[in-house]
Amino acid sequence: MSQNERFEFSERLKLLPPYLFVEVDRMKQKAVEEGVDIINLGVGDPDIPTPGPVREVMVRALENPVNHQYPMGKGKKSYRDQIADFFKMRFDVSLDPGKEIHPLIGSKEGIAHFPLAFINPGDKVLVPEPAYPVYNSAVRFAGGVPVYFSLTEDNGFLPDVDSLAESGFDGAGMMFINYPNNPTGASCSTDFFRKLIEAALEHKVIIAHDAAYSEMYYADPPPSILQVPGAMETAVEFHSLSKTFSMTGWRSGWACGSAELVSGLAGIKDNIDSGVFGAVQDASEYALSKYEELTAPLRKTYNRRLTLMSDGLRRLGWKLGEISATFYIWARPPGNTGSAEAVKRLISEAGVVCTPGSGFGPSGEGYLRFALTRDESRINEALDRIGRISWQ
Ligand SMILES: Cc1ncc(COP(=O)(O)O)c(C=O)c1O
Repeated sequence: MSQNERFEFSERLKLLPPYLFVEVDRMKQKAVEEGVDIINLGVGDPDIPTPGPVREVMVRALENPVNHQYPMGKGKKSYRDQIADFFKMRFDVSLDPGKEIHPLIGSKEGIAHFPLAFINPGDKVLVPEPAYPVYNSAVRFAGGVPVYFSLTEDNGFLPDVDSLAESGFDGAGMMFINYPNNPTGASCSTDFFRKLIEAALEHKVIIAHDAAYSEMYYADPPPSILQVPGAMETAVEFHSLSKTFSMTGWRSGWACGSAELVSGLAGIKDNIDSGVFGAVQDASEYALSKYEELTAPLRKTYNRRLTLMSDGLRRLGWKLGEISATFYIWARPPGNTGSAEAVKRLISEAGVVCTPGSGFGPSGEGYLRFALTRDESRINEALDRIGRISWQ
């Protein structure tokens, strides 16, 4: 954080690295001012509007005076019941809507607040890198100490559970994981979750699993960590309607899992916010009740974009693995070009904005993340322009 002139930022705010997208945004802004036609594949925010039927439910919900008051705490029973039905249908896991589910103002909010419930100053928390930056800030805000573990191609972007168990999780009391993974696009198996939960139970470690992309898949549906034995004792999982239903602006998600962990998070939230807007709960409830018909077309669209972009980049000599989930492409440009240099050249020579892998953590150096948030004609245009860059 840069320093203010009049008031000094708190130590916890000063501890945070510069916000990931600020520098890229500055370069993008400059290009826009110069009249460049920018194709923005930077931020992971869908270009596809929220499905019409969900918007219609929202419009009607606005007319219900009950929704004009504080929603408070864990919100409407009907919404939590619907989350439980969805969870049973999708993962074959039964959740108690009274104790094991808590609606969130977007999963980011829940993730950011969760360590406040269980981490004391100086406590260690395992945090992946490269990763969504909120795990790191959440740990810092709680006064915890992030202990980073690297996600690399060699390990399939998964932590090595055996060595974690051997080291007693490096003395950490909590660990963040995220599958399907942003930024790498990697997925994990139920076996990985099983092994991790066994080790976490043995070492008394809380597993906080960010499942924000669980419904953006193009092969086998990704598992929930709550499917494996023992997870309900030591894990919490964060879900989001943002990408699943193209609802990023609505701020809707939920935490579920161990009743103890969910109640800790609720205890923090009760002192910070007053719940999810009732009309958003109604619309979210409706969206989940129409899961298959609303999400299948979105998956189809992203799958087409993913194939188009990944085939195109490979043809141009970029290196990338198979991606079967999320709407991100994690790729290395030709010629061993560094992340920052490659982003700069893509903006200045092609008008294509993406995110430098190094911004997600040191192991992201050399990679770029493309978010497939533009239609196929724009992706084709982006590929044409990227193809004209000489990387030697
Ligand atoms: C990995 C990951 N987790 C959580 C979130 C937050 O999503 P939400 O909109 O539910 O707050 C994002 C958003 O980009 C994300 O990439």
